Amino acid sequence: MTTFALNLPKLTLSGVGAVAESVAVLDTKGVQKPLIVTDKNLIELGVLTSLYEALDAKGFEYVTFDQVTPNPTAALVREGVSFYQENGCDGFIAVGGGSPIDCAKAIRIMVSNEGDICDYAGVGLVKNDGEFFIAINTTAGTAAEMTSNSVITDEENQVKMVLVDPKQIPDVSVNDPSLMVGLPASVTAATGMDALTHAIESIVTPGAHRLTLPTALEAVRLISKWLPIAVKDGQNIEARANLADAQFLAGMSFNSAGLGAVHALAHQPGATHNLAHGVCNAILLPIVSEFNAQQVPAPFRLVAEAMGGDTHNLNDEQAAELAVSLIKRLSKEVKIPSGFAELGIEESDISNWVQKALNDVCMGGNPRAMDAAQVRELYLASL
Ligand SMILES: [Fe+2]
Repeated sequence: MTTFALNLPKLTLSGVGAVAESVAVLDTKGVQKPLIVTDKNLIELGVLTSLYEALDAKGFEYVTFDQVTPNPTAALVREGVSFYQENGCDGFIAVGGGSPIDCAKAIRIMVSNEGDICDYAGVGLVKNDGEFFIAINTTAGTAAEMTSNSVITDEENQVKMVLVDPKQIPDVSVNDPSLMVGLPASVTAATGMDALTHAIESIVTPGAHRLTLPTALEAVRLISKWLPIAVKDGQNIEARANLADAQFLAGMSFNSAGLGAVHALAHQPGATHNLAHGVCNAILLPIVSEFNAQQVPAPFRLVAEAMGGDTHNLNDEQAAELAVSLIKRLSKEVKIPSGFAELGIEESDISNWVQKALNDVCMGGNPRAMDAAQVRELYLASL
């Protein structure tokens, strides 16, 4: 029997008021001048107001690196490291969805370790611990505020690097649903489907464990129930709070159980065409699930049941078919594009992705092995 490792942040704060709570924690840690890593858009929308007020009330000095763009690049990380050092910072507060938090994780690695960020693509390559780090999540979500992963685009090689190391896990993870009420419906839908993909991939992977399955299944239940509600009414704080916790629960699962081919395939159009990560996952999820269920149908029964499906009189194959149809129905209900063609992708784009998908760090977690021809078929089916 092998040992199972469940990695979690030291502290998790969930609920309205969690941002101010996290600043109170910062005050006890001896941090003098944190770097806030975020994007301009969030500042303009006022999402950082409660953080700035809490920091000012405690008399903190701080600087803001607001240059983060979707799918952050290695060049941006290098820029962030210089900014941190020039300003004499001694800790991190990331505010955002996956992009600002991943960017902060990568900057933090490079502040405490040698070489270049591209040297750290892979699993377990970070030598030194980072400085004190609070991650405030504004979407629901990547669960970047609590995972050991970051995804940085290597723009020279047009590939998304996945950096996996428990040293990237923030010290404090924050989910304050009051920061999420302004998210547009399309972002709510995309990030919610990303979280659903995390949950489902971590249920069907051979890496699943009894320490991860219950949280993943609860995430599937909560997302199935609350995502359509939050997409229709972004101001519904109950829906936002449920989705924030759901994506965290999915993170608890996939951070230790791993992901699979949906993510391995989704990273490629994300890297070459800068498409939203959650949309790429949502398009590929039913297609890859159908492929996986042909060989490993049993775990998809659990997915179907968690999504509210009645599997009583169904065998595993039929239950898996039901799971795929429920995923498609949810995706349609929250207005995810039906395929990549709608997003301007053409058949000629696919060749460039196949080998990169096979090499992606997430591919190893898929329950069914696939070769290049099968990856190509799955991409073609997703157009
Ligand atoms: Fe994801």
